[in-house]
Amino acid sequence: MQKIVVEGGAALNGEVQISGAKNAVLPILCATLLADGPVSITNVPHLHDVVTTAKLLGELGAGITVDEGTLGKGRGMVVDPTTVHSHVAPYELVKTMRASVLVLGPLLAKYGAAEVSLPGGCAIGSRPVDQHIKGLQALGADITVENGFIKARRDGRLKGARFVFDMVTVTGTENVLMAAALAEGTSVLENAAMEPEIVDLADCLNALGANIEHAGSGRIVVPGVERLHGGSHHVLPDRIETGTFLVAAAMTGGRVTVRCARPDTLDAVIDKLKQAGADITVDADRITLDMGGRRPKSVDLTTAPHPAFPTDMQAQFMALNCIADGVGVINETIFENRFMHVSELQRLGADIRVEGHTAIIRGVQRLSGAPVMATDLRASASLVLAGLVAQGATTIDRIYHLDRGYENLEEKLSGLGANIRRISG
Ligand code: UD1
Repeated sequence: MQKIVVEGGAALNGEVQISGAKNAVLPILCATLLADGPVSITNVPHLHDVVTTAKLLGELGAGITVDEGTLGKGRGMVVDPTTVHSHVAPYELVKTMRASVLVLGPLLAKYGAAEVSLPGGCAIGSRPVDQHIKGLQALGADITVENGFIKARRDGRLKGARFVFDMVTVTGTENVLMAAALAEGTSVLENAAMEPEIVDLADCLNALGANIEHAGSGRIVVPGVERLHGGSHHVLPDRIETGTFLVAAAMTGGRVTVRCARPDTLDAVIDKLKQAGADITVDADRITLDMGGRRPKSVDLTTAPHPAFPTDMQAQFMALNCIADGVGVINETIFENRFMHVSELQRLGADIRVEGHTAIIRGVQRLSGAPVMATDLRASASLVLAGLVAQGATTIDRIYHLDRGYENLEEKLSGLGANIRRISG
């Protein structure tokens, strides 16, 4: 099994290019199922979750072509949905990636039936999909849950409806939005998620002929259309990858410019980095963080749906607080069990106390390298960040979590001067 070894101590310096957003490309790949012709997607990040989604679309019968060298536009992928012949998303694929549930809405709306294995729990919490099901039922779908599968059917076209989500759910909003795009009449989705990835999905659907309005607000209006055609879409930059590099720069006291980013999607994160003492300048799609060799100051934060502070950046800021000056308090309000990185950070010498959904972190002068284990995607990132400032070597096991969501992380960090490598065994 592969591991990452980080030797701490180097201040990061230089420029790094941000990849396409994982959480945008996954729903967009699933949305291609709704089209009547091939859809070309650019800025596709090379991630394990993208490979899994392509495999799933392939199992359903879609044709997939990967273009490694779309000049200046990042990697490209063309999905031809016209050969789809199955509507079953098997357990073997769904269990490795919960986002596979995103084929539910498109298969139901386009092909009249969908069978998608229940994703079940995961390391960070129980993560139910009741809102996906209720939303699709509101559009007239007939849905049962049997033998571990969500089985959805429709009689005639789905019907536009008003649906109020009980809580803000990102993939839930995406599933219902994709189905509503092909419904008869207008749907209004209330208490919808406002994440930038929802806007990117809506932009893609609109490029294929949909009429979605107000994506990015809590009330999305979807006048349904009869069909979507083929087309193309460029995926937005990954704000979590961007934030992770900025935190790495801040923790190491360095100066890093991220290129091809979307600063407007990172308000809450940039604000916290400024509170930590970083000098930040934004110039179009570039963000430069200069820490000038200073030790960061502790920050308090509470995770909440966009535009508030993202739960996917919580672990990285926990790592920052571990070596910051002062005491930082982190409240996790989105997922019930998203402090799995705490015990691993403690192995590196961090001073963290957890009380329910709150972690209290007293910054220490220095962490010391140790063998640690990645438990989920963003937890893995926090361990790499801690390793960058720890004295000695930190060896991170189970890095397949990292490969799900970060493209070439160790190459990119090496390019900034980090001492990091991947080893086998
Ligand atoms: C998405 C992101 C993930 C991010 C999360 C929160 C993708 C592929 N993944 O996950 O990186 O951490 O948003 O920003 O985009 N819930 C229910 N019932 C439902 C759906 C959700 O109770 O039907 C609860 C969840 O258990 C959780 C909360 O709602 O407590 C938010 O989850 P949700 O926004 O759905 O997360 P995902 O879409 O799975």
